Amino acid sequence: MIEFSKVKKVYPNGTVALDNVSFYVGDAEFAFIVGASGAGKSTIAKLLLREEKVTAGQLVVNEMHLNDMPDRVVPYYRRQIGMVFQDFRLFPNKTVYENVAFAMQVVGEPARNIRRRVPALLDVVGLSDKLKRFPDELSGGEQQRVALARALANNPKVIIADEPTGNIDPQMSMEIMNLLVKINKNNNKTVLVVTHEKALVDYFQKRVITLSEGHIIGDRIGGMFE
Ligand SMILES: Nc1ncnc2c1ncn2[C@@H]1O[C@H](COP(=O)(O)OP(=O)(O)OP(=O)(O)O)[C@@H](O)[C@H]1O
Ligand SMILES: [Mg+2]
Repeated sequence: MIEFSKVKKVYPNGTVALDNVSFYVGDAEFAFIVGASGAGKSTIAKLLLREEKVTAGQLVVNEMHLNDMPDRVVPYYRRQIGMVFQDFRLFPNKTVYENVAFAMQVVGEPARNIRRRVPALLDVVGLSDKLKRFPDELSGGEQQRVALARALANNPKVIIADEPTGNIDPQMSMEIMNLLVKINKNNNKTVLVVTHEKALVDYFQKRVITLSEGHIIGDRIGGMFE
């Protein structure tokens, strides 16, 4: 679950990125976050990853209160969140297999679990035939699918995707979005997807939370707010 209660975020230069933002996304729920450039969408993602702290209000994820979370706990918290970014953020010198395996190695997963799980994850995203490729040998859509497999590696309850289709062509965008919807449905993950893509949002008929200038101006099932 994700709960924003009257969240305000003011950056050090005085920019008010979010003001009085409240919404609740329950376990295994799917929601889009939409809004114009500068509306505060990525700020929501950064707060959820605890890259930034709220200025006022409360933020709770999976019963964990992010406001008073000590910094030493943050790395453990982050492992419980699967994150996908617009720019993929894969390791260029690791193969597809190694990119996913690494996420499990850093949390001390036994090698036999890694050997079993990585191929299964890459199967979910349809990349079983590309285990040995390096990121620069893949299309944008394929790289994003690796990133998605990696986000799932440690079985997080919550997946946050910030413009996951921002750097890929429309057909691949649909596939990535389909995967996110499937992961929500089949694996009971809570999924929050930040996007600009009106056509995709309209297509899926999911919950849409619309931000404008740091405020929520819409929260409904269906297409994007005009
Ligand atoms: N580190 C920062 N310091 C100061 N201001 C920031 C910082 N990051 C974002 N902002 C400002 O906060 C507001 C919200 O930014 P945010 O990145 O959340 O928008 P966004 O909705 O993700 O936009 P886009 O669609 O362009 O990605 C903007 O006015 C932006 O300029
Ligand atoms: Mg953004």
